[in-house]
Amino acid sequence: MFKLCGLQFLLAIHSQASLSCFPPSLSVSQALCHNLEDLHVTGPLKDMNFSVPEGGGVRFIYQFTSEPPAVSFRVTGEKDGIIDIVPRTGILYLNGSLDWETKAVHRLQVESLDEKGKVVKGPYAVTIHVEDINDNPPEFDQKEYTGVVRQNSRPGKPFMYVHATDRDDPTTPHAQLTYSILHHFPNPYTEMLFQIDSVTGAISPSKMGSYYLDPQKQDTFTLVVTVKDMAGMTTNAFTSSADVLITVKESMWKVPPTIHIQENSTQVHPVNISQVHSNELDVIYDLFEKEKLPRLPFSIDQNGVIYVTEPLDREEDDSYAFFVVTKDNKGELVDKPLQIHVVVEDINDNPPVCQQALTVIEVQENEGLGSNIGTVFATDMDEKDTLNSRLQFKIESQVPSVPASNLFFIQQDTGILQLTSRSLNKRIASNYSLKVLVTDAVFQTRCDVQIHVIDINDQIPIFEKSDYHNVTIAESKPVGTVILEIQATDGDEPATGSSYIIYQVKEGDPNDTFIIETDPETNRGFVKINKALDFEAAPMYNLVINATNPEPLVPGVQYNSSSLTLFKVFVTNVDEPPVFPKTVYKGEVSEDIPVGSLVMTVEAYDPEGAVVRYSLEGDIRKWLKIDSATGHIYTASTLDREQEEIYTVHVVASELSNTAQKSKTTLTLHLHDVNDNPPRLAMDYPLFFCHPLIGGERAFLQATDDDEQRYYSRFTFSLVDDMNTRNNWEISKVNATHAYLSPKHANFEEKVYNVPVIISDNGKPPLGRQVNLEVNICKCSSEKSCFIEVQREHSWPSTGQAIGILIGVLLIIGRSLFLC
Ligand SMILES: *[C@@H]1O[C@H](CO)[C@@H](O)[C@H](O)[C@H]1NC(C)=O
Ligand SMILES: *[C@@H]1O[C@H](CO)[C@@H](O)[C@H](O)[C@H]1NC(C)=O
Ligand SMILES: *[C@@H]1O[C@H](CO)[C@@H](O)[C@H](O)[C@H]1NC(C)=O
Ligand SMILES: *[C@@H]1O[C@H](CO)[C@@H](O)[C@H](O)[C@H]1NC(C)=O
Ligand SMILES: *[C@@H]1O[C@H](CO)[C@@H](O)[C@H](O)[C@H]1NC(C)=O
Ligand SMILES: *[C@@H]1O[C@H](CO)[C@@H](O)[C@H](O)[C@H]1NC(C)=O
Ligand SMILES: *[C@@H]1O[C@H](CO)[C@@H](O)[C@H](O)[C@H]1NC(C)=O
Ligand SMILES: *[C@@H]1O[C@H](CO)[C@@H](O)[C@H](O)[C@H]1NC(C)=O
Ligand SMILES: *[C@@H]1O[C@H](CO)[C@@H](O)[C@H](O)[C@H]1NC(C)=O
Ligand SMILES: *[C@@H]1O[C@H](CO)[C@@H](O)[C@H](O)[C@H]1NC(C)=O
Repeated sequence: MFKLCGLQFLLAIHSQASLSCFPPSLSVSQALCHNLEDLHVTGPLKDMNFSVPEGGGVRFIYQFTSEPPAVSFRVTGEKDGIIDIVPRTGILYLNGSLDWETKAVHRLQVESLDEKGKVVKGPYAVTIHVEDINDNPPEFDQKEYTGVVRQNSRPGKPFMYVHATDRDDPTTPHAQLTYSILHHFPNPYTEMLFQIDSVTGAISPSKMGSYYLDPQKQDTFTLVVTVKDMAGMTTNAFTSSADVLITVKESMWKVPPTIHIQENSTQVHPVNISQVHSNELDVIYDLFEKEKLPRLPFSIDQNGVIYVTEPLDREEDDSYAFFVVTKDNKGELVDKPLQIHVVVEDINDNPPVCQQALTVIEVQENEGLGSNIGTVFATDMDEKDTLNSRLQFKIESQVPSVPASNLFFIQQDTGILQLTSRSLNKRIASNYSLKVLVTDAVFQTRCDVQIHVIDINDQIPIFEKSDYHNVTIAESKPVGTVILEIQATDGDEPATGSSYIIYQVKEGDPNDTFIIETDPETNRGFVKINKALDFEAAPMYNLVINATNPEPLVPGVQYNSSSLTLFKVFVTNVDEPPVFPKTVYKGEVSEDIPVGSLVMTVEAYDPEGAVVRYSLEGDIRKWLKIDSATGHIYTASTLDREQEEIYTVHVVASELSNTAQKSKTTLTLHLHDVNDNPPRLAMDYPLFFCHPLIGGERAFLQATDDDEQRYYSRFTFSLVDDMNTRNNWEISKVNATHAYLSPKHANFEEKVYNVPVIISDNGKPPLGRQVNLEVNICKCSSEKSCFIEVQREHSWPSTGQAIGILIGVLLIIGRSLFLC
């Protein structure tokens, strides 16, 4: 046997699949100096593949045994001054270290030679695959990175990337890099404002950052980011770090100032009226209406330029409000919608309009000089209180022009007509037609006015009766019902303002419960109910009615008591059901309120003062009871928010003496959560670890809770405090809802273990629960899934029966996490 003592060999047991779960190499030292055959590291010359970890220095690889007549070996190929063979013994060895990063594969040819140096066998292809070891730290491609982020950027949307490389084998964890933020300067809030994607190195604002970043408060941040190889999983991974300087800039996504557009524009449309800018690239701009319009006369293009698409009309709509939104290519909103305000500015594009096609005015014969006889009304749709709607009046013509052509005068700015002459005379002309010219700055319109000269108003209306006595009416009679007809007469010229009669309630009706309408033909008055009657509020009205003319009375004549009449209205009672002051009663209680607690009081009153009794309807869970006399509502049993969060029942109030007279109201009870449910495991899959354990295994646990999760529950996971459990298992927190369970050592048998775990919630006070976690230590398939023999339901069969019983195999596709 060949001895190469004094050297220490490291050799890899090889098959082409790399066993990363195995120790990468096995130390073979002194003992192996004696007999290499024992290790199966010798054999005849043939094609071979070896896998050798890089580094490590001088080492033995393999010994080829010589078959006569061969007496020596020769190696050629990519020896690179490191790989060689001892010619006489056939030992293939390394005289130095291989480096994966320099050359990952060495292709050699080995031949055996006879005494004369002639080739006996070969050449055979001997390939040495160099295995990477983690001997290169990751390196950032820049010492320092700079980035710019806008205020209010979307959380999780990257604004910059850091990148690192690792020269180790990219197919191994040696070059699997994870990024994290080590320091965050300054860090003014409880959570960081930035986050990094551990895999891609993308840096983005966190939720917190999206909300709180503000260049006015802090516009530069320095992050120290680190990169680890070995996927960040082991403590002996290599780490490098770099500085990231971040500048915070103001958001470009801002509401533009109110846009003013002149109506009836003659520009070529669409017209650019404003522009918005998203903080992000490649967004799709869109508009949506704030309120539904027949059509939205605005559009936006893909640069955020907003257009008005047609001339606007202020008289149709004097302002618009709509939203600009940005969406990504999946249609998700990118920025918060901006509200755009548009004000349409007036131009004088509307002519004056006469309020009536013909304005008729009556003038009594004896009206004096300067009397105000009526007004010509005209409107202009252009903006009020601007020169565009300022109207001016002028009399253009008067027909007939007897006894003079200028009998009337119109006030230029008010349209008020006045007499410029002495009294008019019916016998000369009873009827004048005027054309009144109404102008604004641009337009003019003519309004027709007819002036009727009428008899003087020297007669007062006289009532046929000075007292209509009593009217009796039920309070339930509807509004509009005529309760009485009254009549007065007037001796003046019929069908003029001198004889027309207006009836009004002069006394006794402060709330306008009654109204009187006049028939213009007959001057008959109809007294109607104007507002609902209520016996309880006003059982009787003592009314005084007056009768007057629209035209003033001539001097010397006055209304006297003949123009007044009286009557009484008696309102009769109608039995009404009890009344609840509110249609809905709302209450809030804690779900753990003791049975018999007062929850709320509901009170109804009866308008007639009858005694009221209460009862409940729809109390399907039998949670409540009501005191029939007082309306106090108590709990009748334990409430449970997890069954019903908003509990609705009806309260019925009825008259004690007449239960048919009843009314109903609704009571909604909002139950507040109390922590009355202990947490539980959220998984129904068994945990398993593959046997034999190799160390570093861990498996997820997840907890959940049936109580209301106000924000989110936080759970604490712990092991029961007994020696056995604590020595074998370990629990470590992942986040609020998850933890890892890991075995503390590798000496577990292949069986099911019970691990008692306590889960507690964060309620006040907290509730906890002990669960027995079944953990299978089992044989695994190559896909890392567990093979467990299906348990017999009964005891094992006797020896005789055993034949023919199939052993079922349960394959669990689990979620355990395996780490090497
Ligand atoms: C060595 O590896 C190569 C490529 O993986 C394969 O084609 C060849 O058959 C292997 N030779 C031996 C002897 O295993
Ligand atoms: C190993 O390499 C060194 C220097 O490169 C050389 O001096 C020595 O002879 C070599 N030894 C063998 C056994 O090849
Ligand atoms: C559109 O108008 C806005 C101002 O109203 C202006 O800032 C912007 O540059 C214009 N855009 C284009 C494309 O003309
Ligand atoms: C626009 O103005 C012209 C005259 O200036 C007018 O005739 C037209 O009715 C106006 N259009 C609208 C919609 O107001
Ligand atoms: C007033 O005169 C016009 C025509 O001049 C006539 O149509 C109308 O009936 C007259 N009205 C009265 C109340 O005499
Ligand atoms: C009207 O009612 C009053 C009071 O109830 C009564 O005194 C009077 O006699 C009644 N008059 C008539 C005409 O019914
Ligand atoms: C008639 O009654 C109404 C309403 O109370 C009142 O405004 C008006 O002045 C009265 N008229 C006379 C002439 O008393
Ligand atoms: C008029 O209304 C007031 C306030 O609503 C009320 O207090 C009063 O009783 C009413 N009077 C009558 C006569 O209805
Ligand atoms: C009221 O005045 C008219 C005349 O205008 C007269 O006939 C009547 O007698 C007067 N009534 C009373 C009650 O004085
Ligand atoms: C906790 O971690 C698990 C596993 O990584 C994840 O699925 C879950 O969403 C996390 N929960 C919270 C609240 O972060």
